[in-house]
Amino acid sequence: MYTSLFMTIISIIVLPCIILIPSNAYTVPEEVRALEFIKDANINRSINWQRALASWTCPTDADDSDEGCDPCSRDWSGNWEHIQCRGAGGRYGEGSIGHYDGYVTTVHVTDAHLDGPPAKEWCLLTHLRELDLDGGNQNGPFPEWIPKCHPQLQELDLSFNRLTGRIPNNIRKKETLQEFKVEHNYFSGPVPAILGGMPNLWRVRLAYNHFEGTIPESWRNMSGNLNQLDISHNHISGNLSVLAFFKLMYASVHSNAGLCGMVPESIRYASGYNPSGTGLGHPC
Ligand SMILES: *[C@@H]1O[C@H](CO)[C@@H](O)[C@H](O)[C@H]1NC(C)=O
Ligand SMILES: *[C@@H]1O[C@H](CO)[C@@H](O)[C@H](O)[C@H]1NC(C)=O
Ligand SMILES: *[C@@H]1O[C@H](CO)[C@@H](O)[C@H](O)[C@H]1NC(C)=O
Repeated sequence: MYTSLFMTIISIIVLPCIILIPSNAYTVPEEVRALEFIKDANINRSINWQRALASWTCPTDADDSDEGCDPCSRDWSGNWEHIQCRGAGGRYGEGSIGHYDGYVTTVHVTDAHLDGPPAKEWCLLTHLRELDLDGGNQNGPFPEWIPKCHPQLQELDLSFNRLTGRIPNNIRKKETLQEFKVEHNYFSGPVPAILGGMPNLWRVRLAYNHFEGTIPESWRNMSGNLNQLDISHNHISGNLSVLAFFKLMYASVHSNAGLCGMVPESIRYASGYNPSGTGLGHPC
């Protein structure tokens, strides 16, 4: 009797208190640990890395979190610079979906002049949907680990760096990938055939590199979704018939001296089309 009355009182007084106690920090603990590991492994690489990661300190802004160390913060913009967090389930472009699961979904280190090879430690962020390392001095080969590490990746931006070599053809095909941007680097070798195995790509930018050879046959598989294509300023050759059935809004192909033959309507009527510096319109 007394026990059950006691329990009732306890549940009336204590339970609401438990519910009212704010939840823990918005960032999932294993994501905090991953971010701290990334920071420790890279912060002393150079002055540019130091600057880029300078805001990665704890405690974080008390107005924007409810705990000492909360990289993600209350909303998706992140207490720590260059990261954004959203729920594990939404699309990367979404802002509020009403609750936050506290996973890092975007890394956006743009124009921070990061030097050296891209950091392998980004691998620890397994919920990434967007990885933007553009506008740096990053060098070395294409980071082959990226497609393996981020199973949900939708956007990859490595543009405006100093990356070299081929885009390997044995990287894991990313069915989830929608945007592939590597323009303004020193990539060489064949136009990456692997992109043909990524049917959800809608934007591909390869401009200002040293890609050579013809547009691969495998690219026919992208015809359903590819909407924006920039292959200008490379050494690409042959005709563009592989692209004949694409629905391109934007197509930039100029400054590829070896391009030749009939120009498919899909290219000719796309915005951005300019045949200068090519042999397009002339027999191959
Ligand atoms: C980075 O360098 C500073 C100064 O030398 C040192 O105090 C700090 O412990 C280093 N940080 C890491 C994570 O190695
Ligand atoms: C293109 O699609 C066809 C049919 O779906 C498939 O058999 C082929 O393997 C695909 N090619 C590439 C490069 O993924
Ligand atoms: C385009 O080039 C390929 C060889 O790369 C050739 O098989 C095809 O017939 C050419 N298409 C046109 C329309 O000339």
